Amino acid sequence: MREKVLGLKREKNALILAHNYQVPEVQDVADFVGDSLGLSMEAAKTDARLIVFAGVYFMAETAAILNPGKRVVIPDPNAGCSLVDSISPGDIARWRARHPNGVVVAYINTSAAVKAHSDYVCTSANCLKIVEALPRDVPVLFVPDKYLGLYIKHRTGRENMDVWEGECYVHAELTAPKIMDAIRRHPDAELLVHPECGCGTACLLELPKLGVEPRFMSTEGMVRYVKVSLKPRFIVATETGIIYRMEREAPGKEFIPVSQEAICRYMKLITLEKVYLSLLREEYRVTVPTHIAERARRAIERMFEYT
Ligand code: 13P
Ligand code: SF4
Repeated sequence: MREKVLGLKREKNALILAHNYQVPEVQDVADFVGDSLGLSMEAAKTDARLIVFAGVYFMAETAAILNPGKRVVIPDPNAGCSLVDSISPGDIARWRARHPNGVVVAYINTSAAVKAHSDYVCTSANCLKIVEALPRDVPVLFVPDKYLGLYIKHRTGRENMDVWEGECYVHAELTAPKIMDAIRRHPDAELLVHPECGCGTACLLELPKLGVEPRFMSTEGMVRYVKVSLKPRFIVATETGIIYRMEREAPGKEFIPVSQEAICRYMKLITLEKVYLSLLREEYRVTVPTHIAERARRAIERMFEYT
């Protein structure tokens, strides 16, 4: 199957993009594996005719927004995201009615329509930079992840920031007691935390008192960090798919997931066989209506100024 995918990819001048949570055999056939920011940057610069997006729907939608003339396909259109489902454009319009000069910052894990109603898009890799650069006196709405939003609010010390109540159903389960348990079992390991985690505020406020300094990072930030860190062991608070890349790119080090159950059912809908069929049939096509895409693209392009 792997050889068939690679042959067809060459024949069709296609680009396969895969998120860090994809299963190993899908990561292995991809031209680029990365986090949401890296994947959207790759999507923005490709000259491939066909983009096969091995990730979740909002990621493929972002690639389609950035490549209006190209064919973007996803191997399974049901690969959604619990964060995307937690907010609608109407929710943003209601907030704007109360804050006419407010600024809306949307995490990239949102629908194209929500992005179109937002001023900035951000990812876990650049959210702090973007919020820090906003004038201190404008009210801000951050959507939709509450843990990421509270993390930003705390780190920037910003009072006039409303945070939406959405959550990632996988990361919300990575709670403070689970992190504490992992630290007790592996006291010499370094702690890497994705800012969507349910333990966010506790990690930020309580762990330093115990002499533990968690590192908050996007998935790609984690991979980069484990390669250069001198530490041999890491506790990893995110979806377990990331461990495959860590083991491959930082061989000899040990990676301990906070929970073996931290598996995103949406990401795992994509299989190597579905990638093959997607390449072969050039489906399932992801399109965004032009009037939505144009407005969403503005918010995404503003994000690129902070990479
Ligand atoms: P990253 O951008 O850090 O890869 O996160 C994407 C995501 O969906 C996290 O659950
Ligand atoms: Fe969405 Fe969470 Fe899955 Fe990431 S891990 S795609 S945030 S449901």
